[in-house]
Amino acid sequence: MTKNPIILGVETSCDETAISIIQDHESGIPKILSNIVSSQFDIHKEFGGVVPELAARSHVEKINIIARKAFKESGISLGKISAVASTVGPGLIICLSVGLNFGKAVSSSLNVPFIGINHLEGHALSPKLQQNLEYPYLLLLISGGHSQYLIVNGLGKYKRLGTTIDDALGEAYDKTAKILGIEFPGGPKLEKFAEEGDPYKFKLPKPIINKGGCNLSFAGLKTAILKISKEINTEKEKFDLAASFQKTIEEILYVKTKKAFEEFKKINESVKCNFVIAGGVAANKGIRNKLNEVSEENNFRAIYPDIKLCGDNAAMIAMAGLERFKNNQFNELDLQADPRMPLDINAKFLKGAGVKL
Ligand code: KG4
Ligand code: ZN
Repeated sequence: MTKNPIILGVETSCDETAISIIQDHESGIPKILSNIVSSQFDIHKEFGGVVPELAARSHVEKINIIARKAFKESGISLGKISAVASTVGPGLIICLSVGLNFGKAVSSSLNVPFIGINHLEGHALSPKLQQNLEYPYLLLLISGGHSQYLIVNGLGKYKRLGTTIDDALGEAYDKTAKILGIEFPGGPKLEKFAEEGDPYKFKLPKPIINKGGCNLSFAGLKTAILKISKEINTEKEKFDLAASFQKTIEEILYVKTKKAFEEFKKINESVKCNFVIAGGVAANKGIRNKLNEVSEENNFRAIYPDIKLCGDNAAMIAMAGLERFKNNQFNELDLQADPRMPLDINAKFLKGAGVKL
């Protein structure tokens, strides 16, 4: 095995074109030699959401430029790469294909292994870019497309404890932001709005708070926001609605996280209680504070990636690639993009009307 292997990570599953180069280190914490993320906010904002064809076109236009930048920043030459890791799913199929084919081409031309990475596994392992972390641990993955509690038992070994039965949390933030007239993607700005308002002004529903175990639901919240938004006029009321939304989310996560702690402890009696919160929404400070509070109360250690590693990036893909490289888990070059790729392959599909909790 190469000493301190160097992994090229490639991420194009949605609206970020990202390339990173990381190198293994004796400490167990790899060095991030470069981590370039190019967001497409400007392309999609006038449409209020990601337009797949435009996203894919932009990935095609930018990927070589971003890769060149990443190599320059890292000071590494192409020949030093030990393996290439590209996101294979879940995501938009025409976007995934760009990074997947780019990664395959580089691996084949360099004659180094190719590794297909589940984007969600990238988020799940993202704190390992900054600290050593033992398996198993509890994970709350909150992003634009997913909201799940999982036990991470090892690389590729996931047990889902709960998932959203409708909207993802990031989606709930983005939709609420849109109703309040905030530009896409509204999550970060909605958080700022919330800081200005009165969180007790509007009472919002907490769907399935007392049922469905660790499962989550946010769609009813958006409907309530839409209704209230038609009755308010002032900026101050908008801030109040944002603050009430933020507080409601924090309260939902407090209750559901407590349930997830109980589930985790039932299965893992005598292990360290580590609780990783990852994905774009993990950047939210109010959510961080609330999850710190519930973690302290229940003797769990809350662990977050750095804010810049919460959103989509390729360093997390390279991290998952590095772990798989060390296990000799490689893929063939005919690996297909998988837009719906789950983490826990045994978990039931829990979305849509009439779902039984
Ligand atoms: O993980 P991510 O970058 O992409 C996906 O894999 O989906 O997450 C993006 C989501 C978006 O919905 C965005 O609005 C949300 O994360 N987000 C936030 C914050 N920062 C990003 N939501 C609430 N508060 C934030 N500070
Ligand atoms: Zn993501």
